[in-house]
Amino acid sequence: MTTHIKMDDRIDRDRLEEMVQGVIGRPLDRPEGELKVSGRAPYAMDDLPDGCLHGVLVRSTIAKGKLEHIDAAAVETLPGIRAVLRDDRFTRNPAQGMAGEAPAQGTDEIVYFGQPVALVVADSFEQARHGAQMLALKMEGADEAAVNPSDRNAQIEAPKKKQSSTGDLDKAMRQAAFTVDETYTTPGHVSAAMEPHASVARWDGDSLTLHGSYQMLRFNRAELADSLGIKEEKVRILAPYVGGGFGSKLGISPEGVAAAIAAKELGVPVAVAMTRQNVFEMVLRRSETSQHIRLAADEYGKLTGIGHEALVSNISGEEFSEPVTQATPFLYRGENRVIGHRIARIHRTPAGSVRAPGEAVGLTALEIALDELAVKSGIDPVELRLRNIPDEDPSKGIPFSSHTLSEALKTGARHFGWEPRNREPGKVRDGEWLIGSGMASAARVNMLIESKARVTLTNDGRASVETDMTDIGTGTYAVLGQIAAEMLGLPMARVNTILGDTDLPPASGSGGSFGAASNGTAVFLACEDIRRQLCERLGCAPDELTLKDGYATVANRRTSIQDVLGGSDLAADGHAEPGKAEKKVRQATYGSYFAEVAVNSVTGETRVRKMLGVFAAGRILNAKTARSQCLGGMTFGIGMALTEELVHDHRDGHIVNRDFAEYHLPVNADVPQIDVVLLEERDAWANPLHAKGIGELGICGAAASIVNAIYNATGVRVRDLPATLDKLL
Ligand code: MOS
Repeated sequence: MTTHIKMDDRIDRDRLEEMVQGVIGRPLDRPEGELKVSGRAPYAMDDLPDGCLHGVLVRSTIAKGKLEHIDAAAVETLPGIRAVLRDDRFTRNPAQGMAGEAPAQGTDEIVYFGQPVALVVADSFEQARHGAQMLALKMEGADEAAVNPSDRNAQIEAPKKKQSSTGDLDKAMRQAAFTVDETYTTPGHVSAAMEPHASVARWDGDSLTLHGSYQMLRFNRAELADSLGIKEEKVRILAPYVGGGFGSKLGISPEGVAAAIAAKELGVPVAVAMTRQNVFEMVLRRSETSQHIRLAADEYGKLTGIGHEALVSNISGEEFSEPVTQATPFLYRGENRVIGHRIARIHRTPAGSVRAPGEAVGLTALEIALDELAVKSGIDPVELRLRNIPDEDPSKGIPFSSHTLSEALKTGARHFGWEPRNREPGKVRDGEWLIGSGMASAARVNMLIESKARVTLTNDGRASVETDMTDIGTGTYAVLGQIAAEMLGLPMARVNTILGDTDLPPASGSGGSFGAASNGTAVFLACEDIRRQLCERLGCAPDELTLKDGYATVANRRTSIQDVLGGSDLAADGHAEPGKAEKKVRQATYGSYFAEVAVNSVTGETRVRKMLGVFAAGRILNAKTARSQCLGGMTFGIGMALTEELVHDHRDGHIVNRDFAEYHLPVNADVPQIDVVLLEERDAWANPLHAKGIGELGICGAAASIVNAIYNATGVRVRDLPATLDKLL
């Protein structure tokens, strides 16, 4: 039996509110935590089959053209080398994890520096890497490649459906009491997942099993089948543990395709692990952005107009483009609005989803602009935002499903100790350090993605949850187990959650902050069905049944679940789908950031001294894993504000800083004590759990609070991120 739901309307009934078992929302540890910290959780490369060979990908050394010839003779004589494979199917564009966006087949054209063009296979990884380094490629460059968005031969596209305009923004700007009209730029970023991409492929006849590191398995299976030209049913992907994704593992990536091709060709299992440099060059990057923002406000700081026009980049033919303005249409009031979006087609590593695509960089720029408006109008930045919270979605004229920005701003200001604050820049000193504070709003769109799960109540009084959902470090194992435990009245220790196998019911996968709520709803629905089946056996109505600690109670009759089952199992499937609700209401999550920085007046070095995030995302399913997501997001916000920056060579577009020594992520010493406050909320439009996505909310504007604090400390307004010391002196 499958219980199916399509979210067409709000669902007010709330079974979880009863908290009978008392595990929903609790800050429980991850059930798989011990396996992870003791090194026993099998990540992709931890489980190599006997006789497994190793492949290392070889990259293109030109930005545009063709691979003419590979001279493999010298490499083939090196010790341990088994094969040098050239296959156009390696050289594909990264899928975004939603099959159907683009075909997954490769191309024989070179479209960026670093594109995988060959695979060297050897007995050991080291031998294969050595062979890959020694391989002589004859590359034929085509005419000059556009590698920078500003290059004269970069083609600029302006997709019609991504432009919009209402009212008359130019006029609003002319009539405004206060205006901001500035351009902000953010550099490219990489996902920087701790576990580099790796896949182990083995064939059994014409059936492929691939142990990989991916975020959205049902889509990844379709993409892999598509790129190999075989049927989906012939592909099984396993990814029980994933060492971070941040967007880079949403779609199948070249190492997976290469491992499958090599294993087929050589008749033995093949593992392909990317080096860190491979990941930088071959997977995907977040596009750099240039954002022209215009704000028009009346004398009270009320916005009458907002313009947000972005230029991003990607290789030709890719549908994805950084959705920079995603939250701009609904975050603040203003009758006159312009949204613009242009894409420069250039020859760089393909651009894709990285850590909250859209809001992470888009809100960062918008929230710096808001701070500029606060300075110009003399209105406190928190107050300015409070004055501009709209009553309904100002672009679509539809209501909000729930709205917590005002509460998040007020709670944050109180908790942080925002007042009293010296608004005049450069006035607070601590020795040679200039001290300042800044804040920003947070917002992220909320999505539901189709998802299925199976729950089985077994005759020994335990339950299992099965779905091809992934846990990319976010806490899926814990959260799905908690939903089943709560619904079935079982202690957590009696619920076993099995994930990461495409043989299991297809889930949303992990991405876009939608995983826990989407797949959690499928688990919830399956449990509802099991409760219904138990009621049938007990002869009671659904609301008469209480399940707790392994017992079913109806009226005063208490029976162990095992006795109710009488030696048999009960299984049910849940299936959740988005519906018309998406069109009827605007659904989003909100929050606020507050930061205090110290800028060294001699060296220009910035240290974040303290940081607070306040977030509301519907029902919180696990207070510990939710908080950890927010801490991670804000930490990446520190990186975005101060250090993170992909640097491309202006001649051929190659990535200059393609490792963690040169690409500067925040480390422990850069991160102060971060406080997170989670606001209690329910969103009946989201799903029957009333929970929304929280994974990415912590980075959606976080960098702006730091950049705004730097202004308050120094009087220097940074509009070109990151705010490195050369820009502050
Ligand atoms: Mo996310 S950047 O959708 O993993």
